[in-house]
Amino acid sequence: MSAFAYRHGALHGETVDLAAIAAAIGTPFYAYSANAIRAAYRAYAAAFAPLGAEICYALKANDNLAVVAVLAREGSGADVVSEGELRRALAAGIPARRIVFSGVGKTESEIAFALDCAVAQINVESAPELDAVARIARAKAKRAPVALRVNPDIDAGTHAKITTGTAENKFGIAFEDAPALYRRAAAMPELALKGLAVHIGSQLVDLAPYRAAFGRLAALARAILAEGLALERLDLGGGLGIRYAGETPPTVASYARLVAECVGSLGCALTLEPGRSIVGEAGVLVGRVLYVKDGATRRFVIVDAAMNDLIRPALYDAHHDILPLREAPGAARARADIVGPVCESSDTFARARDLPPLEAGDLLAFASAGAYGAVMASTYNSRLLVPEVLIDGDRFALVRPRMTYAEMLARDRIPDWLAVDPGDDSARA
Ligand code: LLP
Repeated sequence: MSAFAYRHGALHGETVDLAAIAAAIGTPFYAYSANAIRAAYRAYAAAFAPLGAEICYALKANDNLAVVAVLAREGSGADVVSEGELRRALAAGIPARRIVFSGVGKTESEIAFALDCAVAQINVESAPELDAVARIARAKAKRAPVALRVNPDIDAGTHAKITTGTAENKFGIAFEDAPALYRRAAAMPELALKGLAVHIGSQLVDLAPYRAAFGRLAALARAILAEGLALERLDLGGGLGIRYAGETPPTVASYARLVAECVGSLGCALTLEPGRSIVGEAGVLVGRVLYVKDGATRRFVIVDAAMNDLIRPALYDAHHDILPLREAPGAARARADIVGPVCESSDTFARARDLPPLEAGDLLAFASAGAYGAVMASTYNSRLLVPEVLIDGDRFALVRPRMTYAEMLARDRIPDWLAVDPGDDSARA
């Protein structure tokens, strides 16, 4: 059951009335359910326990320290793609020995920082990056734990902007180059070569692309093992889809069965990097209707949340269910476009959506916004980053306050030569 459900006609997160949060902190805001996050993590932990897999939550989906702390308490590891994410994982209590550092373009200082922290593994995505890691490790008189991320050239069948595993994508080492690079890496004294990694895309609602990719990975692993080279770990990435618009994504249990089938007999330790499927359905974005405008051909419901708060509809044409905070059972539905205040036509959450009648002041929630929501927010149009709230049973806490205008303005500097005395009109001649 979803953590967000109607109770006595009011949409709740666990047992907290979302309207009460709106009254306390204003709108828009993100709300996350700690118990939904725990349940999603535990589903992975239980399904993959027989395979002994390490679950490394991908922070890119939601990097709020409180969210990561929920997972740290569960024993989760982390998949990070920047020094910032690495610092967040550590700050939230995830030990470095459970952290994998991924990403196609790590800087020298990021690699150095990761080695200083003694992360479990650095997933290397190119030959020059491999050399950089070795060089930095040598300078520090350390051995860098690395895995090679290979590109299996499998189309994940997901949105083009979140497909990562085809030869056309920038990610990973070309499959045919992998054996030679693996041999080279195995011979480098500065490296402790752990194994291989793949990640083919995100929001997969079908297991077939995984089967194809893991099949190729297993064949490569067998060839490497047959050469007598060490290969102790396979990192299978993330990507399992969630429900946005009535999809039926595979269960974690069926995913685990597939993994067992494809790579179970290799005797390698496993790592998984799920992001969206841990936090996606555990979060909503709540906004308030500002105006209802009947245009020449369409009705527009203008809300106070916008594309800068949740960019997925604008960027990927993503669907998010829209739930009025007050249930209106039996009310006739009216068709409308749900739009934000930003000055772009792409600032549209939904087109021609049939919703119960909405009026100014009504609150509504955008569902399945726990992943790739707040993390992708910006201050476009000089809008303040919105607050985030963690609900845990019957309590809630503000886990990121709303940005203030003072904070926003304080980030910029006007150079001396442009500084004007506000009272001196002559300077503006
Ligand atoms: N591991 C690697 C190497 C990744 O690149 C990703 C996601 C993950 C793990 C986690 O994948 P997940 O389990 O969350 O699917 N902003 C897009 C999604 C981008 C995903 C990028 N990589 C969206 O809003 O749909």
